Amino acid sequence: MSTALSTPLRQELLDIFVGRATRRYGLSEINQLQHALQAAAHAEADGAPPATVLASLLHDVGHMIHQLGEDPAARGVDDVHEELGAKWLAERFGPEVSEPVRLHVAAKRYLCTTESDYFGKLAPDSVRSLELQGGLMSADELADFRAHPLHAEAVRLRRYDEEAKDPRASTPDFDHFLRHVEACRR
Ligand SMILES: [Fe+2]
Ligand SMILES: [Fe+2]
Repeated sequence: MSTALSTPLRQELLDIFVGRATRRYGLSEINQLQHALQAAAHAEADGAPPATVLASLLHDVGHMIHQLGEDPAARGVDDVHEELGAKWLAERFGPEVSEPVRLHVAAKRYLCTTESDYFGKLAPDSVRSLELQGGLMSADELADFRAHPLHAEAVRLRRYDEEAKDPRASTPDFDHFLRHVEACRR
């Protein structure tokens, strides 16, 4: 573990992602920490900017800070984790981190609407939540989404998210990605 970054924020992130994130990720065979690490590793391998790597690592933090109990989607409840997570992140990081996170559910709806084969790439939990989250986008919703200055980063993040559900993947550890924290703080 690196000691370069020893701040309350670092400890807070470790408490959430390493201390709490061992709950299962939706219906898949991996936990939230593995999902976070895989998303960040895909972002890094793709040459994404540091803020997008960090956003990929932290994109589902809203699942870990809500008070709705385990797997609310199974009970037909949308935890609105993208809004919750983005609000939490916006108190700690700039918009390059928080906004792609806020838009990562909209980006799924966007990709399912604009790419005919995208729906087939969704994991079962993402299919299940799609309707709860609003289903496909209308023409007005597509235009609103495209008007957001960080929508392209949200789409990138979403593609890493979809690929980050491999029970056999190996990744760098959480600490590896924390080196981007200081540069992205607000
Ligand atoms: Fe998510
Ligand atoms: Fe995710």
